[in-house]
Amino acid sequence: MRVVITGGAGFIGSYLVDHYINTDNEVIVIDNLITGHEDNIKQHLGKKQFQFLKEDVVEVSTLAGPIDLILHFASPASPFDYLRYPIETMKTASYGTHNMLELAKEKNAKFVLASTSEVYGDPAVHPQKEDYWGNVNPVGPRAVYDEGKRFAEAITVAYHGVYGVATNIVRIFNTYGERMREGDGRVIPTFVTQALRDEPLSIFGDGKQTRSFCYVSDMIRGITQLAKIDYQMPINLGDPHEFTIIELAEVVKELTGTGSEYAFMPLPQDDPKKRKPDISVAKELLNWEPEVGLKQGLTRVIEWFRRRI
Ligand SMILES: NC(=O)c1ccc[n+]([C@@H]2O[C@H](COP(=O)([O-])OP(=O)(O)OC[C@H]3O[C@@H](n4cnc5c(N)ncnc54)[C@H](O)[C@@H]3O)[C@@H](O)[C@H]2O)c1
Repeated sequence: MRVVITGGAGFIGSYLVDHYINTDNEVIVIDNLITGHEDNIKQHLGKKQFQFLKEDVVEVSTLAGPIDLILHFASPASPFDYLRYPIETMKTASYGTHNMLELAKEKNAKFVLASTSEVYGDPAVHPQKEDYWGNVNPVGPRAVYDEGKRFAEAITVAYHGVYGVATNIVRIFNTYGERMREGDGRVIPTFVTQALRDEPLSIFGDGKQTRSFCYVSDMIRGITQLAKIDYQMPINLGDPHEFTIIELAEVVKELTGTGSEYAFMPLPQDDPKKRKPDISVAKELLNWEPEVGLKQGLTRVIEWFRRRI
């Protein structure tokens, strides 16, 4: 296959690049490096089957040659990043998604949208199933990301309905692993780097809010399996084990052996209080569920950051 991966120099996108290159496909990455880094794809630079276009998906309208599959993963993804780049985030989700859907239509390619659990907002239903419509503040600070992704889902469904483009929508819940950036504001790189420096761990609110954490290899297995099937409705992928932020902090402290204390800070506006995916659709359609436990995945991430600090 000839596969286009937007956001391929980012955290999740770069593991998708590894997967498709290692399974003998050609890969074209489109990434403007707004939050990604060439280091994530340096292992493939110079390979015949790999091409890197340092471009903005908002500007790319077509590409030469056939394309079989487009994985549209470009988007600032951490709250810190999308609050720093609010307009870029909305343009990427709207114009960028439109451009990639047009490309899929032109090339008769399969299109996979990276959506997010953020479409559920601060959920009134727990755990979140795909048929829950969500509870999103459309004018809050997080709206640039949440509403951007909701628009991206809607236009993806419309391109399937109107033009018959083969599409998948993956609602990704918190995913972590090596290649995350220190300072991207997400809780795992934040806790791990603070712990390795024996600095206080920043806890927003009372730390009783819950999240679930999926290790990146499990996520890549789910996404690449989904890309093979004919299913247009959104699918949740994430780890259904739910932890409070304090519980996560305790595990990080135990695994790093740090003496760090906690620094409590005000909860950001519209921060979700609970997050846990219902993955019964993924189990049924993809025979998928996460295999890497939190301690196992965190141990790898801690080692990765330890070598960089
Ligand atoms: N990591 C998670 O927990 C998570 C959860 C839900 C959804 N997602 C989604 O998965 C995708 C990847 O997230 P990630 O965690 O790897 O983030 P990331 O920031 O590491 O990667 C995003 C990549 O997209 C690129 N990019 C952004 N805007 C672009 C544009 N206009 N044109 C070209 N490239 C652009 C960035 O440079 C970066 O390389 C995103 O769409 C995100 O919304 C991730």
